[in-house]
Amino acid sequence: MAEENNPNGSNGGSAGGSPGKNGKVGLVERVTTGVKDDIQALKTDIPAKAKEQIEGLKDPTKTQVYTSIFRHKHDDTPRNRALGVLSNVFLHLHPAKINRDAVRYSYTWGMGGITFYLFIILTYTGVLLMFYYHPSKVQAFRDVLYLEHDVPFGKILRNMHRWAAHLMVIAVWLHMFRVFLTGSYKKPREFNWNIGVLLLVFTLLLSFTGYLLPDDQLGFWAVTVGTNMARATPLLGHEGPFGSMLGMTPYNDVRFGLLGGSIVDANALLRSYIWHCIGIPIVASVLMIVHFWRVRKDGGISGPAPVMLEAEADKPRRGPKAAGE
Ligand code: HEM
Repeated sequence: MAEENNPNGSNGGSAGGSPGKNGKVGLVERVTTGVKDDIQALKTDIPAKAKEQIEGLKDPTKTQVYTSIFRHKHDDTPRNRALGVLSNVFLHLHPAKINRDAVRYSYTWGMGGITFYLFIILTYTGVLLMFYYHPSKVQAFRDVLYLEHDVPFGKILRNMHRWAAHLMVIAVWLHMFRVFLTGSYKKPREFNWNIGVLLLVFTLLLSFTGYLLPDDQLGFWAVTVGTNMARATPLLGHEGPFGSMLGMTPYNDVRFGLLGGSIVDANALLRSYIWHCIGIPIVASVLMIVHFWRVRKDGGISGPAPVMLEAEADKPRRGPKAAGE
């Protein structure tokens, strides 16, 4: 087009870098024509793009924003389902495929999941409680009263933490009971059963160390009784078997180590606090990660052998394979 509009044929000269008078005219003409062309193109392009975007708003799944987030189609095919799960940072924590019978509530009672859910609630409410609580003999009980009576929502916060703690202990026992009833501790899940036993111990330790923190009579005497039992620990307690032979006394045995002294006092409160808020939650979290990873590596939740009752045989099945089966 620039060629046609240039009667002097000076196109090459101007492009060559030494334009004469004619060359300059050619350049200006070409720029003007180019701009005209661009404007013309924009006149057609902009409405086309706008139309496309308005269409996109009608169907958000076609917008670029949507496709950049959800990179795979959501058709109900096994491949798309697997891709959807595997390419999402949150979903990929779950297996792409599971045995439907294994995840029935009637099989798992959902107790492992509920235990984990309670642990999350405890962590969340526990961190909020830390904003108001000081682990010192002067402050601890006062802080609890302050939470109960003055802090907005303090009472519900404290009770959520306390109730979730009780429930977690109950849930973890029920979970263990279900694993036992379904024989899920057997090969290849022996290792995970052992991780589970450690998780049970750490759940109980979390409960026990939390008990002293309000510094009330209940907690004080519970921890007095509990730690007195440590006197009788074999080898490590001064009253336990072989303890005295190993030189254990009330001032160097395991009980002394737990309390940070020979009586339940300020040091015991501080030690309980640190174990309760830092040490045990970290260890329990790591064990939970291993526990969940092992469930996946052991072939998913054990589950009953997939069976179909005679009564169910004629019923239409749900799920992707139902139509094609
Ligand atoms: C903080 C404590 C615990 C948490 C959060 C936890 C969580 C879970 C979850 C979510 C599952 C998947 C199946 C289900 O929900 O039932 C599971 C499976 C399992 N858990 Fe735990 N668990 C805990 C403690 C224990 C304890 C105390 C034991 C046994 C001593 C145990 C042994 C197992 C075993 C063997 C499996 C595999 C079961 C199967 O494949 O059917 N867990 N756990």
